[in-house]
Amino acid sequence: MSDNAIGIFDSGLGGLTAVKELVKVLPHENIVYFGDTARVPYGNRSKRTIIRYAEQDASFLLSKGVKMIIAACGTVSSVATGLCDTLPVPFTGVVNPTAAAAVRATKNGIIGVIGTSATVNSESYKKAILAQDERLSVYQQKCPLFVSLVENGFLSEEDPIVQLVVERYLRQLKEKKIDTLILGCTHFPIIAQAIQNYLGDNVTLIDSGRETALYAADVLTQKKLLNKNDSHGNCTYYVSDTVDDFKRTAQIFLGQAVIDDVYHITL
Ligand code: DGL
Repeated sequence: MSDNAIGIFDSGLGGLTAVKELVKVLPHENIVYFGDTARVPYGNRSKRTIIRYAEQDASFLLSKGVKMIIAACGTVSSVATGLCDTLPVPFTGVVNPTAAAAVRATKNGIIGVIGTSATVNSESYKKAILAQDERLSVYQQKCPLFVSLVENGFLSEEDPIVQLVVERYLRQLKEKKIDTLILGCTHFPIIAQAIQNYLGDNVTLIDSGRETALYAADVLTQKKLLNKNDSHGNCTYYVSDTVDDFKRTAQIFLGQAVIDDVYHITL
């Protein structure tokens, strides 16, 4: 079991921000990634649809024999909250590890949360933060256009379109004097520099992909499921839309060219 892969899924490319961190923390692990690129975005769909997609994504990963599943998607983690009870392997979403990191990071007790519409409507991060410390103030903002910017390659902090959308969405959070901002969608770390430039260096950005990768490493360690083989792990990618488009954009997320296998599947 321990040399089986870790399964990670997202609606599209965003979960690759978690893959990048996981490879840093657990370089010997094999990873199977599924990006539902034919159905992205999930964040403006109904609860019922998001749950159905999440179940299909998880079943696909289970069919690959994974030893753990990570929903590297803020939307799925916020909405398909019953998924963990149906799986025969350890599971984590991104909400709890990320909320815990924000609670640790804040100094003035004012935390911002940005995510998709479904994530913000669910108030998942807000509830998880207040469950840890009810004295904290939490302000939320839906940023659905960030997902479209990222999926379509508008990534540079120099790009006026990126700057305009960042300013439009984040102005109110800035006025609330947040000192910590949860990037509650795994797509958002890709435009983190534009967000940081707008909010200033005094605001700490919490990357949900990174925090979840660290948490997953803890879970696998505790359950004695770490790969005992000390060669470098490999990654296999599956996408539901075209492989070429995925490869092109994925290298931006991963910070390096995708040299591993990428396959198209239909769910
Ligand atoms: N990366 C996803 C998230 O974390 C999804 C974006 C979307 O599909 O709308 O929420």
